[in-house]
Amino acid sequence: MRRPIIAGNWKMNKTASEGVALVEALKPLVADANCDVVVCVPAINIPAISEACKGSNIHVGAENMHWAASGAYTGEISAEMLQEYGVEYVIVGHSERRQYFGETDETVNKRTLAVLAAGMTPIVCVGEKLEERENGTTNEVLDRQLTVGLAGVEDVKKVVIAYEPVWAIGTGRTATDEQAEETIAYIRKKIGELFCPRCAENTRIQYGGSMNAKNCKGLMAQANIDGGLIGGASLKAPDFSAIVHFDR
Ligand code: 13P
Repeated sequence: MRRPIIAGNWKMNKTASEGVALVEALKPLVADANCDVVVCVPAINIPAISEACKGSNIHVGAENMHWAASGAYTGEISAEMLQEYGVEYVIVGHSERRQYFGETDETVNKRTLAVLAAGMTPIVCVGEKLEERENGTTNEVLDRQLTVGLAGVEDVKKVVIAYEPVWAIGTGRTATDEQAEETIAYIRKKIGELFCPRCAENTRIQYGGSMNAKNCKGLMAQANIDGGLIGGASLKAPDFSAIVHFDR
């Protein structure tokens, strides 16, 4: 019912030419995928990556977007700029943006609404820090991130949610299948409360955080996990392809 979605988040890796080489290697490997395949790439790479992805089943995403249509926002990128190059997905509220670039639940909300208004799909990232998991406030943190971040969303199934426990990102320390499933089931329940139970059933929720070719099968076998947002392992074609083929 929910089509799985495997998305790479290249972060600040790969020049445009390196990225094109990665996509060229990826195209034949993932052509037979049974899921949506997305690469979210640095803004400056988007024209080249979009061109390279043409005619393939690889969709292009951005790593961030400003909520204003245009204006005096030095260094920012608008929806229209992304769409001119066929961008379909935008990562919103990644924990690295929250940690290093002042992203808040309120700005996550503005970006999410702007991405939806432009007809693209936001991949909205939520997740607790290590100390929050340890002091038992994970659900409280998620409640706040979801309630504020998704306020005013009309059709939540047009949003992809990425649950990324901050302690699992880039650390090699993945959440266990059970931890990820339990928390993502909680997120789904919360979406049900904020919107409607049927809306929650139709909303795709990814896991992210040290997901790789080895652990993807166990994670993807969980009832509530509909995909992955992949950092490090998305930078190598065979690794990313193995995750795309989690069902093999
Ligand atoms: P890693 O897969 O490198 O842990 O990164 C996860 C992530 O932050 C994806 O957005």
